[in-house]
Amino acid sequence: MNIPFLDLGNVNGLLQTEIEQAALRVIRSGQYLYGDEIQNFEQQWAAANGAAYCVSTANGLDALTAALHCLKALCHWPDGSEVIVSAHTFIASFEAITRCNLKPVPCDVTPHDYNIDCNKITALINANTVAIMPVHIYGRPCDMPTIKAIADHHNLRIITDSCQMHRQSSIFNFQSSINSDVTAFSFYPAKNMGAFGDAGCLVTDNNELADLARAYCNYGATVKYHHEIKGINSRMDSVQAAILSVKLSHLDEQNKLRQAQALRYNQGISNPLVSLPYGGQDVDQSCWHVYPVFCDKRQQLQQWLSSHGVGSIIHYPIPPHKQKAYAELNDLTLPVTEHICNTELSLPLNPALTAEQQDYIIDVLNKFTA
Ligand SMILES: Cc1ncc(COP(=O)(O)O)c(C=O)c1O
Repeated sequence: MNIPFLDLGNVNGLLQTEIEQAALRVIRSGQYLYGDEIQNFEQQWAAANGAAYCVSTANGLDALTAALHCLKALCHWPDGSEVIVSAHTFIASFEAITRCNLKPVPCDVTPHDYNIDCNKITALINANTVAIMPVHIYGRPCDMPTIKAIADHHNLRIITDSCQMHRQSSIFNFQSSINSDVTAFSFYPAKNMGAFGDAGCLVTDNNELADLARAYCNYGATVKYHHEIKGINSRMDSVQAAILSVKLSHLDEQNKLRQAQALRYNQGISNPLVSLPYGGQDVDQSCWHVYPVFCDKRQQLQQWLSSHGVGSIIHYPIPPHKQKAYAELNDLTLPVTEHICNTELSLPLNPALTAEQQDYIIDVLNKFTA
């Protein structure tokens, strides 16, 4: 059997007719930026996340950047102010911070959920600290109530990177914006709710922040050719918005499917060399953007899977603080993050994966002997 890590043609094929109708509607409308499709999607996504406002952007990195840039302006943070960020993340979380002339201060994660370790945040706070950036890695939420309590106590802002977690309120019965000043999303094609190219957005309950972010992403203008601040061009295309509205209407059912697939893996995998995510517990606590397993012989495991036609990906082989681009952080040692980066392997998990394919993957994995 040949099972790629992810075949987006198959995944999007599940909704083919609806997606094609939505795309055709936009193509025939002549309105490719701004307009009803964007407004509709922003309203739907804000409501879906229990937030008052949604500002669409060209990608997730821009959404994080806009969130930080505008909070920096509104709160008068000086250059070099410190943002405590989850150490186990995609590089974009760090890049958004440095793009805004702020300083990322990585905080190690827990070995239980791979999210920011709340017990380690306070020790990193000093007079220069202005914000915390939790990252819902692999689709599982951070402990937001505890993060909020720490932030409130020290008068810090929270910018949440939810680029890997789509619509937590659908799964966890709480609202994303409640515990965060602003939450950023990516709709990169491989995400649970993926666009047909790049797209992103931020949600917030803060109208001043939403207005400023909207202007910032539109060349700094609220009225055409009247530029009040120095901005950037970061827009979501109408065709992406129309397709994302279709995807949103199927997101909950697809997230449930992902949970069922995670359960099937948890129940089937029984190789002592392979550790299950979250100790094999709490399947309902994630929207399973990624199904990570852990193995000390990861390279051999990946080769074994590949030699049996099973694709897999490492999320991520090198943590941001060990990247060349962040040489100033290279001397830091963050053992939990580094251990995850040395042992993690993501198995195929997506709405188009069949039970037969999963059983094959489980069988191959259980036969791995190193
Ligand atoms: C945790 C995290 N943050 C930020 C991003 C950036 O999103 P984008 O690729 O849409 O810019 C991603 C996307 O891959 C991500 O996984």
